[in-house]
Amino acid sequence: MCGIVGYLGSSQAAPVLLSSLRALEYRGYDSAGVAIIENGRLAVLKAAGKLANLESLLESKNPQATVGIGHTRWATHGVPNDQNAHPHMDCSGTLAIVHNGIIENYQALRQELMENGHTLSSDTDTEVVAHLIEDEFRTTGDLLAAIRGAVGRLKGAYALGVVSQQLPEKLYAVNHHYSLAVGLSDQASYLASDSVAVCQYTNRILRLEQSEIAEITASDVKLYSFDGQAVSRTPVMVDSNPFVIDKQGYKHFLLKEIHEQPLIMRQTLGKYLKHPEKPVDFSAANGSGHHCDDTSYGVSLTADDFKKIDRILIVACGTAYHAGLVGKYILEELCGIPVEVEIASEMRGRKLLVTGNTLTIAVSQSGETADTLAAITEAAARGSMTLGITNRPDSHLALVTPNLIVTECGIEVSVAATKTFVAQCACFYLLALHMADALKTVTPERSRDLKAKLLAVPALMEQILAREDTIRLKSLRHAEAHDMVFVGRGLNYPIALEGALKLKELSYIHASGYAAGELKHGPIAVLDHLVPVITVIVPGAVYEKTLSNAQEARARNAQMIAVAVDGDEQARKTFDTILSIPPVEEFFSPLLTVIPLQLLSYFIADYLGKDVDQPRNLAKSVTVE
Ligand code: M6R
Repeated sequence: MCGIVGYLGSSQAAPVLLSSLRALEYRGYDSAGVAIIENGRLAVLKAAGKLANLESLLESKNPQATVGIGHTRWATHGVPNDQNAHPHMDCSGTLAIVHNGIIENYQALRQELMENGHTLSSDTDTEVVAHLIEDEFRTTGDLLAAIRGAVGRLKGAYALGVVSQQLPEKLYAVNHHYSLAVGLSDQASYLASDSVAVCQYTNRILRLEQSEIAEITASDVKLYSFDGQAVSRTPVMVDSNPFVIDKQGYKHFLLKEIHEQPLIMRQTLGKYLKHPEKPVDFSAANGSGHHCDDTSYGVSLTADDFKKIDRILIVACGTAYHAGLVGKYILEELCGIPVEVEIASEMRGRKLLVTGNTLTIAVSQSGETADTLAAITEAAARGSMTLGITNRPDSHLALVTPNLIVTECGIEVSVAATKTFVAQCACFYLLALHMADALKTVTPERSRDLKAKLLAVPALMEQILAREDTIRLKSLRHAEAHDMVFVGRGLNYPIALEGALKLKELSYIHASGYAAGELKHGPIAVLDHLVPVITVIVPGAVYEKTLSNAQEARARNAQMIAVAVDGDEQARKTFDTILSIPPVEEFFSPLLTVIPLQLLSYFIADYLGKDVDQPRNLAKSVTVE
């Protein structure tokens, strides 16, 4: 969370910083700011709220500078106001820093600095760093050494950008367990938390690795380890085709991304599975070729490796966790290997029981989620085989696992995940088929049949999207609800969880998802005629039992809604409203049942006038633990 940018060159810095920040606004939009050197003096311009506020400020001030750093914030320490917005300055007002991450020992440092006469003006953990550098610089007169001295006192994981009017021809960047990329062109250097922001200007990229400091000039970058050793690394050339960030006529990115799902499925499935008769191919040769991607990726685990696996552990957060739960059902069904799914943040401070026979799978759209990265890194350190599923092959996740499956979604702009969820689920189907073929836990005939059915899913998705208008009208009947309950069983239990999460994050209506069978164990107490209960039900192993659970809700006068297949007569008699989907085998149903729930959340949120693409308090990339 939070995005850092920097620019040093011969052009005007403010428009470059602004455009770079725009590419990183997904990382947080509580405030934004820049620090530039104008006529030899440091100037900080910052504003609470979305980037548009900073944009207006820059328009009115029209600063003239060719060097600067910038920041877009997701608040951790201190409310989102102008004062807590980055950049933060030292006492002298000659040095400014931007920061991503958390300084865990900031309170002790703050106390010490104040006792030593420093005046700190924000509630952030960040500001102490500017003052520590100031103290060190006063002693050494060497900014690089001062930064090194300051970071030696910090605890936590963080990335920093530093600018000083004492050295206007240089920028400094620090990376400690985060991501930072420097872009180099003939006339200028660029800094950003995500290479997406840099790729709009140059395709020559140098990534900072862990515990490194970069000394950046307009024509060069030098890297140093925290202990002062020079580090040699050659920049890589990446495909710098600019990302197309365009609503393409849709009212919101979210609606566009929901509609892109059939295409995304075709792309992701088509990349790894060309035909039902063919094997799934995750090899590196089939892997690379993304925008801003300098990595080659794939899965190098062999059939012999798969045979050793006695347990699969899936770690993820939020929507990716729900995809992991879908993955559990699929992998257990096809491969016969026990699978556990853990919320990645719950893996901290606990004994991680993995062995060399465990396969740990991290699922993360961004590949930057701190909790997920920590969990997979720890699993790898304990000898587990590891694999990542991500939409970003250039992310941190790609660095911590040798096996990577990439979802072919393009950039997901909306903060709420939709298309990446179905693509992550698609990857689990592909992985399970790949492993099952290798382990021979499915017959060739069944494998072929499943592959054919999987490849047919995008066309079914299109049929649901064609019903959008009906889904909208039915959804809006419930737009005034204060609470909603989502239930499902088996493969559709994760979809109930995902439906509830989507509604919460988009509309701010309180919603909970439950395993349908759990309703009677407590949650049923909240039901009355005011509470809509949305049941996800498709014919299959748990159909009858799910229907019985729905009857229990009906007996409490709840408003009865279902996501159910066309022609389901029993559902028609049980539910007041049906968001229908085409008939589908239960095994593939999560790929379809989620879509009406995404649309329901979207339409209700839009009706309520919520900020659909950038819901309050959220960030797309959650890089703090
Ligand atoms: O980038 P990741 O997939 O690791 O992100 C995980 C969650 O933060 C993310 O899915 C979050 O729950 C979204 N807001 C869901 O819409």
